[in-house]
Amino acid sequence: MLIRAAVGIALSSSVAPWANPAVVPGMNQIGRTATPAEVKAWDIDVRGDFKGLPKGAGSVAMGAELWDGKCASCHGAFGESNSVFAPIVGGTSKKDIESGRTYFLSHPGYTHRTTLMKVSKLSSMWDYIHRAMPWNAPKSLTPDEVYGVLAYILNLGEIVPADFTLSDRNIAEVQNRLPNRNGKVFYEPMWQVHGKGDVKNPLCMKDCPVEGKLGSSLPVDARNANGNIAEQVRPFGPARGTDTALPPRTEKVGVALSVSQAAAAPVTAVTATPPVASSGPSAALKLAEANACTACHGVANKIVGPGFQDVAKKYAGRADIVDYLAGKIRKGGQGAWGPIPMPEQAQLKEADAEALAAWIAAGAR
Ligand code: HEC
Ligand code: HEC
Repeated sequence: MLIRAAVGIALSSSVAPWANPAVVPGMNQIGRTATPAEVKAWDIDVRGDFKGLPKGAGSVAMGAELWDGKCASCHGAFGESNSVFAPIVGGTSKKDIESGRTYFLSHPGYTHRTTLMKVSKLSSMWDYIHRAMPWNAPKSLTPDEVYGVLAYILNLGEIVPADFTLSDRNIAEVQNRLPNRNGKVFYEPMWQVHGKGDVKNPLCMKDCPVEGKLGSSLPVDARNANGNIAEQVRPFGPARGTDTALPPRTEKVGVALSVSQAAAAPVTAVTATPPVASSGPSAALKLAEANACTACHGVANKIVGPGFQDVAKKYAGRADIVDYLAGKIRKGGQGAWGPIPMPEQAQLKEADAEALAAWIAAGAR
């Protein structure tokens, strides 16, 4: 992401002949030469060797204030939030700063990925923030503010101390402390195509095969071919994987995938008018359906979350079972049944949460 945005447009200061309307036949009524000021407004890219970097400076303290006002709402107070984009800070260590390679990137089982773990050029971060952030007001930061907010991010990652001021004069030294600065390599064989395209596709002019439908379902036999996908992506936030370790299914796999898609956005579909609970088991089940609980829970079987009858068994005899379950239903959480979290059910009325909890506690019949 960073890299794509950071490549930018490298405009040269001298205008190419074809860009001059006077020298293109038939084009002399159209357009005009860009003014130096217009070119300058476009020409903001910062290269890996920091060519193009504006002069300026900003302290961690200044950046912290700016971060709270303009960045924290989307990225979290400490750059840890996964709610609008992958976290920016986390997953790096002092050792990484010494070696220049992020240990956790190649550590099996560590699936968390952050910007500071991946980025190899500080110029990319400077350029990207300057060009694209805050998301709702890109290019609104002054160069000093970009230095400050970047200093703050680097301080959160313990790359610079709290009393640090980042500037065009010391940014190259800080580059030498970036945790993954040595982590990107140029893989030459990919570029050695010996003058030929690296894809081959014979031209078909007659009776060409018609391709099948595009879709995104996984064949049953491939479900678990690469292990359980749900365990390989970060166990929180909006981008979780389907549980592919479920026992072999008899129904089409597309069904299972759409269940997890429904689970990813359970709130929008149902917030409008969740029915008020009346009483009785079928009313409770209807309530569970209306609130999309059944996208993740079977009555007797596990889907993403445990079967309701299994929940009843687990807590049978617990004195505060209804209160406990009602609280957990509303607030969500993880760890009681495994690493996959249950999302908060903020749309659910307290009375409905209690009705559901009472029904589950009574055995979910
Ligand atoms: C309104 C939400 C929002 C706000 C406010 C916001 N960001 Fe972002 N930020 C995003 C989104 C969304 C992305 C990913 C954008 C994309 O990929 O096109 C992103 C990406 C980034 C990245 C790149 C991460 C990567 O690994 O590619 C950085 C760095 C960043 N933001 C810094 C900031 C800073 C600094 C501020 C405050 C000055 C800020 N953001 C304010 C939503 C926001
Ligand atoms: C997106 C999937 C999802 C949705 C929607 C969902 N749950 Fe869950 N639920 C889970 C997961 C996953 C767990 C296991 C959490 C854990 O391990 O602590 C869980 C756990 C539970 C538990 C057991 C709590 C415990 O501590 O043992 C109850 C009760 C429960 N959910 C009820 C509900 C009800 C009622 C609804 C609807 C209002 C609902 N869930 C909606 C996924 C979901």
